[in-house]
Amino acid sequence: GYKSRVTVVGSGNWGSVAAKLIASNTLKLNSFHDEVRMWVFEETLLSGEKLTDVINRTNENVKYLPGIKLGKNVIADPDIHNAVKDANMLVFVIPHQFMDGICKSLIDKVRGDAEAISLIKGMEVKMEGPCMISTLISEQLGINCSVLMGANIANEIAVEKFSEATVGYRDNREIAEQWVQLFSTPYFMVTPVQDVEGVELCGTLKNVVALAAGFVDGLDMGNNTKAAIMRIGLREMRAFSKLLFSSVRDSTFFESCGVADVITTCLGGRNRKVAEAFAKNGGKRSFDELEAEMLQGQKLQGVSTAREVYEVLSHRGWLELFPLFATVHEICIGRLPPSAIVEYSEKKPRLS
Ligand code: NAD
Ligand code: 13P
Repeated sequence: GYKSRVTVVGSGNWGSVAAKLIASNTLKLNSFHDEVRMWVFEETLLSGEKLTDVINRTNENVKYLPGIKLGKNVIADPDIHNAVKDANMLVFVIPHQFMDGICKSLIDKVRGDAEAISLIKGMEVKMEGPCMISTLISEQLGINCSVLMGANIANEIAVEKFSEATVGYRDNREIAEQWVQLFSTPYFMVTPVQDVEGVELCGTLKNVVALAAGFVDGLDMGNNTKAAIMRIGLREMRAFSKLLFSSVRDSTFFESCGVADVITTCLGGRNRKVAEAFAKNGGKRSFDELEAEMLQGQKLQGVSTAREVYEVLSHRGWLELFPLFATVHEICIGRLPPSAIVEYSEKKPRLS
């Protein structure tokens, strides 16, 4: 019978783990070709070698996921057009700020019958307003796009510690089941939910909450304050999502992509970690500088997402409805001190 071909577009920290999960399944499932292509944004390592050559020789992404074997059936490819051309299942997993350019370069290059899934937490703000990354993919490439989000710190899944995830799909349950099958392992439990916007907005907005949690950590405010920030952040996530898309379901916020991702990211994520350092330095060192120093080429999503959310809020006259989201951005750009993150709660958020 017909066998699906999978390509992973991206090879960062989470992209590499996604390739590992998928590659373990394509070997086991008859409905997939064994080989998993992984597009790598090529770079030259300090050793002088190309990253793709090292991945294909050692089977490890030595820069973004050192010490983890990806599976011999993962093939790194620096040529994005070659990497996508035969695939009927495309997995997008790159930092969201690069997606607009990548989508443009893929116009007319993917199979017309391809299905996509986005693991990217973030959104775009265009002249017309906010545009989710799955919508960008669908519209630019003319293909359907689902999403996979959840409480998924990549380094933990890389060493096969148990976690859950949520697939958000639009209307085709069979396609959702295929994605569930492709990602599920005994240590990675995936649940499909028919709420693509809700799932994707959860993954996107929790990165802003994570920055707030990091500020609280940097200021040594303690667990109760951090829990308050997480609660109010979750409430703003729900309110914002429902204002943008009335179809978003309350139940989605109780899936892995919702409350669980807020918790894990506010405890152990990169956004939290860098925001903590930012607050410890009293906002005197920029996020760009701290990111470069602390993350070795990995990318934060929260700082640009906070700006994107702020643009939407100010454009629509919603700033006062979302004091936490608004305050995070104003702290990031230096307009407010990190300590402002707790003062906002005195403003009595109007949404319940
Ligand atoms: P990352 O943070 O490790 O970023 C590094 C990647 O970005 C590298 O592959 C690098 O080659 C690539 N890159 C750098 N400059 C580029 C450019 N100009 N064009 C294209 N690519 C470029 O990436 P990641 O952790 O795989 O994150 C990708 C997405 O997955 C993000 O939206 C993130 O929020 C999400 N995510 C990450 C995790 C995690 O724990 N890392 C978990 C869940 C979701
Ligand atoms: P960070 O990007 O903050 O590390 O969050 C990772 C994540 O999305 C966990 O689900």
